[in-house]
Amino acid sequence: MSENKETDCLCFYVNGKKVTENNADPETMLLSYLRERLRLTGTKYGCGGGGCGACTVMVSRYQPGTKTILHYSANACLLPVCQLQGAAVTTVEGIGNTRTRVHPVQERIAKAHGSQCGFCTPGMVMSMYTLLRNKPQPNMEDITVALGGNLCRCTGYRPIVDGCKTFSPESNCCQANGNGAGCCVNGDSEMCFVGTHDIDCVFQEPPPQLFDQEDLLPLDPTQDLIFPPELIMEPQVSQLFRGERMVWVSPVSLEELIQLKTSHPQAPLVMGNTNIGPDIKFKGAWHPIIISPTRVQELFEVTKTLQGVCFGAGCSLSVVKALLEGLVQEIPEEKTEIYRSLLQQLGNLGGQQIRNVASIGGNIVSAYPNSDLNPVFAAGNCTLNVVSKRGRREILLNKDFFVGFGKTSLKPDEIVLSVFIPVSRQGEFMRAFRQAPRKENALATVTTGMRVMFIEGSSVVKELSIYYGGVGPCTVSATKTCAAVIGRYRGNFSQLTLSEAYTQLLDEISLSPSHPGGQVEFRRSLTLSLLFKFNLQMLHKLWEMVWTGSLFAPIGRVSSAIRPLPKQLQPSLQEFQAVVKGQSGDDPVGRPIMHRSAISQATGEAVYCDDIPKMDGELHLVLVTSTRPHAKILDIDISEALRVPGVVDVITSKDIPGKKFRTFTGIDEGILAQNEVSCVGHMVCAVVADNRKQAKRGAALVKIAYEDLPGPVFTVEEAIEKQSFFLPQRMIERGNVDEAFDKVDHIYEGEIRLGGQEHFYMETQSMVVVPSGEERELKVYLSCQHPTYAQTLGIPSNRVSCHVKRVGGAFGGKVTKTSIIACITSVAAWKTGRAVRCVLERGEDMLITGARHPVLGKHKVGFMNDGRIIAADLHYYANSGNTADESLLVIEKILLHLDNAYNVPNLRGRSVACKTNLPSNTAFRGFGVPQSMLVTENMINDVAMKLGCNFLFPEQIREINMYKEVSLTHYKFEFDPKNLLRCWDECKEKSDYGSRRKSVAQFNQQNRWKKRGMATIPIKFDIFSVRVSVRQAASLVHIYKDGSVLVSHGGTEMGQGIHTKMQQVASRELHIPASLIHITETDTSAVPNTCPSAASFGTDANGMAVKDACEILYQRLEPVRKQNPEGTWQTWVTSAFIQRISLSATGYYRGHDLYMDWEKQEGQPYAYFTYGACCSEVEVDCLTGDYRTVRTDIVMDIGRSINPSVDIGQIEGAFIQGLGLYTLEELKFSPSGVLYTRGPSQYKIPAVCDIPLQFNVYLLSGSDNPHAIYSSKGIGEPVLFLGSSVFFAIKDAVAAARVEAGMVGTFTLNSPATPERTCLACNTPFTQKIPASKQGSFQPWALSIP
Ligand SMILES: Cc1cc2nc3c(=O)[nH]c(=O)nc-3n(C[C@H](O)[C@H](O)[C@H](O)COP(=O)(O)OP(=O)(O)OC[C@H]3O[C@@H](n4cnc5c(N)ncnc54)[C@H](O)[C@@H]3O)c2cc1C
Ligand code: FES
Ligand code: FES
Repeated sequence: MSENKETDCLCFYVNGKKVTENNADPETMLLSYLRERLRLTGTKYGCGGGGCGACTVMVSRYQPGTKTILHYSANACLLPVCQLQGAAVTTVEGIGNTRTRVHPVQERIAKAHGSQCGFCTPGMVMSMYTLLRNKPQPNMEDITVALGGNLCRCTGYRPIVDGCKTFSPESNCCQANGNGAGCCVNGDSEMCFVGTHDIDCVFQEPPPQLFDQEDLLPLDPTQDLIFPPELIMEPQVSQLFRGERMVWVSPVSLEELIQLKTSHPQAPLVMGNTNIGPDIKFKGAWHPIIISPTRVQELFEVTKTLQGVCFGAGCSLSVVKALLEGLVQEIPEEKTEIYRSLLQQLGNLGGQQIRNVASIGGNIVSAYPNSDLNPVFAAGNCTLNVVSKRGRREILLNKDFFVGFGKTSLKPDEIVLSVFIPVSRQGEFMRAFRQAPRKENALATVTTGMRVMFIEGSSVVKELSIYYGGVGPCTVSATKTCAAVIGRYRGNFSQLTLSEAYTQLLDEISLSPSHPGGQVEFRRSLTLSLLFKFNLQMLHKLWEMVWTGSLFAPIGRVSSAIRPLPKQLQPSLQEFQAVVKGQSGDDPVGRPIMHRSAISQATGEAVYCDDIPKMDGELHLVLVTSTRPHAKILDIDISEALRVPGVVDVITSKDIPGKKFRTFTGIDEGILAQNEVSCVGHMVCAVVADNRKQAKRGAALVKIAYEDLPGPVFTVEEAIEKQSFFLPQRMIERGNVDEAFDKVDHIYEGEIRLGGQEHFYMETQSMVVVPSGEERELKVYLSCQHPTYAQTLGIPSNRVSCHVKRVGGAFGGKVTKTSIIACITSVAAWKTGRAVRCVLERGEDMLITGARHPVLGKHKVGFMNDGRIIAADLHYYANSGNTADESLLVIEKILLHLDNAYNVPNLRGRSVACKTNLPSNTAFRGFGVPQSMLVTENMINDVAMKLGCNFLFPEQIREINMYKEVSLTHYKFEFDPKNLLRCWDECKEKSDYGSRRKSVAQFNQQNRWKKRGMATIPIKFDIFSVRVSVRQAASLVHIYKDGSVLVSHGGTEMGQGIHTKMQQVASRELHIPASLIHITETDTSAVPNTCPSAASFGTDANGMAVKDACEILYQRLEPVRKQNPEGTWQTWVTSAFIQRISLSATGYYRGHDLYMDWEKQEGQPYAYFTYGACCSEVEVDCLTGDYRTVRTDIVMDIGRSINPSVDIGQIEGAFIQGLGLYTLEELKFSPSGVLYTRGPSQYKIPAVCDIPLQFNVYLLSGSDNPHAIYSSKGIGEPVLFLGSSVFFAIKDAVAAARVEAGMVGTFTLNSPATPERTCLACNTPFTQKIPASKQGSFQPWALSIP
């Protein structure tokens, strides 16, 4: 093929329609093509790097070899459009919609309440839809595997899984099988413990259900789009696509491919694009020519022989997995050792979408240091068949093949044709292990393949091969260790040999303390403990096969090292109260009504900010941020940027008319840096161009000259040393703490560090600002929690209207930061007179917008022998970053919550906001409470440990110190803890705490290397905010002549279901069905001066405002109702209009008169408390730090729930977010303050694999709340803290592990309790072997924050 030929025409199908593209650009991915070119915006952008699944589509291709159609899910963000020749793509719009027919998957996820903000929903739908196309009756494992590559930040996954579970015949009850068959309620089944049923439900009236099984559409495969016949007949011809900067060549024969590679040895072969794609996108790699051999049949051939199986290098990892799964069933088990090891790795490698496209050859040649497959291939003696112009050759995949980071010994022009995986021989055994930051869909920290061959009938080692990933620049071999085992002890695979081997291994695989990726001690200990696991497994094998008395048998307690952690999801309960008898069927209040946009979200019709069609002349804005942590700006040179074609302007601080700062909580914050930058990521200027690509290119060419300022401050210790604080500091004291310390039996001082947390809302910061061209009017469409904040520019607010249709998740991160970015975008729109769109990429968003405040908490506690805490002195240091933002409110809230549920007579707290040179931290669900209470609960834990856990469990210390009767808090606010105690007692009862505690103790006695732990944690969480001005709300309600009703209010819909609840309120107040009521977007021109939707009081405030407006209108209709008592709503409305009665009203809610006097240290800062308790149990693998939450039970007092499904959704979602905060999510900064963790590949939020195996939620019955609408309570934030029950359960398990090492008493476990921290805290013989690097003798890879 001549590379000089003209560009070809690309042809593929999308949703059954042919797409012909004459100018296909090799740099365009399917995601942007769908969204921008085809205007199919249901497929979402979440990360752009294959890590979140928001962009999932189904790709179907004809397989000429088997004459079948292959359907697979794929990430559209990594799928080059040029690769789609001959493919049929199905997007969420292609499977169902509200105009014709909603697909059962869309319907079931929506009806099971699996869609909150909805941003992840289309991706979830498409993953599940693809599974059903391949397997209409999937089992639970199929479902969790299919959803493993999709992230959701709102729901906590349980409802999504429950919706999907309705397709599975595996379930025990109608709750999960979608057709009502086999249910105990019908008397069909003896066993029913799913959903809201319990074992007695056969005999009782069924309790209320979250969704109705009878109501679901059946799955009807005949409705699916057929594969376009044209694509089956399509002739295979090579193609070339010429883009602006790249040429894409797609050969169809091997000869052509060899020819191309010979001519362009540096051109990559793009198969799945899961390595090349992210390299281009995130690392700026550029390739003038790309060769795409996905249509070269030879690369997909699979040959099975007696010696092994040979996979074409192009085979996807999913195909490899499926074929190996078949083989292990077909051939004798002893021949499948290597196959099973590969399957072990493939089960956890990436998500399903990645495995579906990533090729086996690509994985090998990418030569990632932590590739999961390469250590297995290498240890398993696998070979590559490679081809080039010079002919074919075979290469053994061994240590000589992997020569460096991303480098192999392949010659540049060589092509891997196939990979040969041998069957295992007699006496040969192989195992693979990996430990990753998250159980699934995460690159491994350490991964390994280990193979041994014994001399037949003996335990003498003939061959031993051990390879590791994650411990060097490439896959590395432990050659010397293997030789030592074989040579020195004549290969007798005994413990003695191994203990020598550990020493050898430590010597051979040593890492520099500054090793990229950090976790050096952990990685090194994993190399040992994984070898230990291998050793035990082999001993077990030998013991089974050639029992000799001298062999140590890994049975009993020791066998726990090789038993996997439990994995099977169990049925869960969600229990809530039915509405009162006699409540009208039309009155939706108190019923589990589906989120009002759930179906539109599931069909992809729901419009998010970036789905708004492009305006005429629209520009795109890209921010330029500081690369220095603290420096003077000497010069900003924009000349080169302005020369980039398409770049229209560069906005600097000078362009801002009027005030160049925003004022939050009384402190000014610059909009764009003027003379100085104070963190990496500080916004300096913004480039606007005709499209995003051009704006990005322009941004890269802005040259900023800096002069570094000395001594940047990153940690709280540095801030304390330099007295770098935002003022005022806060202090509160009850009793006399100092005096009380003199009278106690014990005093203990401890500390805990809690890392920050990235909001990771699935929809990144997005906005479109449109100037009307007249009288300085601007319309701002944005995704934010506080639209009024975004009215800016020194223009009167009556010219700037802000519109929020919906927000794809916010969690506190879309208040202040969004308003600043909206200011910049508005300036650009104002200056250029054109519409400007700004949608941050995930990495930019994570870098710029800050996170939850990391906190260092110190405590000094005085207590008695009986467990009573008499005095406590707590210090909190919050790392605020470079600006104050809302930090001063955060540190106040920290102090107001430090008592949690405990009545400590002498209690003092001090908090301070540390000013550092990190990106400014901001509000995050809980607003300081999750940090505050963790310190308190850690103190309680320390008291228990100090007194000896066998004497008193932490739960007993909690009970001893809990508020028991009407009491005053430390700020002298009177409250009744009755419902707190009820939640606590019911939680213990429902979780069967007492007997499970005993089982845990028994388990720990019986297992040496696995430990279980339990923790029960209470919460008392205030609702409402002390800030006077934001405690109000307004609404506007119109009744139209046709009887339909339009409600506007000041709250924003972020997935928390506020619009659904407002619809319920209006329905009740107007006495009309909810179907007559529409909730419009939040619009500051309809309801002005909106307050933030935050602090769990959106429904409380806006609900009252909507109620007020509806009451006014209902009153106004009173005369017409009296005139015609038999009339209908419609006739009354018509009469009212004729009688000139206004059918429009505003509603207002003034909020409670709350205050806090910090001088007097007293106040009534809150209206009421939401209470709850949570019991979690975990199982920890002490050798790796991996853990599973075996069970969680939550009892919450949320008054009378307006909508139990929405509230249970908030509870479960917040719990999982808390579990992420305390056990998983880690922000990492370089020693110079650069955020490393800028996407889902580096920053792990919980995935489906993280949900508790059994997850029960109970809403406390019989609770009333006179302070909020319909006796409900705010619930958005409180439960997040209960995720700490998992943290303390891990700590409990670690304590048990430490006893094995002879260590009792207190110890520090910082949050999050990652596998790294957990494993190191367990203090196993392996962690003990790792020599600690001398502090100060090296620069660690990452800062220790806070
Ligand atoms: C979100 C995500 C999660 C991941 N998780 C994991 C994980 O947990 N474990 C893990 O091991 N990996 C993981 N990976 C890496 C992934 O497995 C590899 O990127 C993938 O296997 C590479 O295959 P590909 O077909 O996509 O390669 P491409 O990106 O298409 O190509 C990669 C390289 O291989 C070369 N190449 C491809 N085929 C050939 C051939 N036949 N002959 C010669 N050279 C060839 C190309 O020239 C190119 O240099 C992950 C990747 C992503 C994006
Ligand atoms: S946007 Fe494609 S995986 Fe995240
Ligand atoms: S509903 Fe899943 S991210 Fe919001």
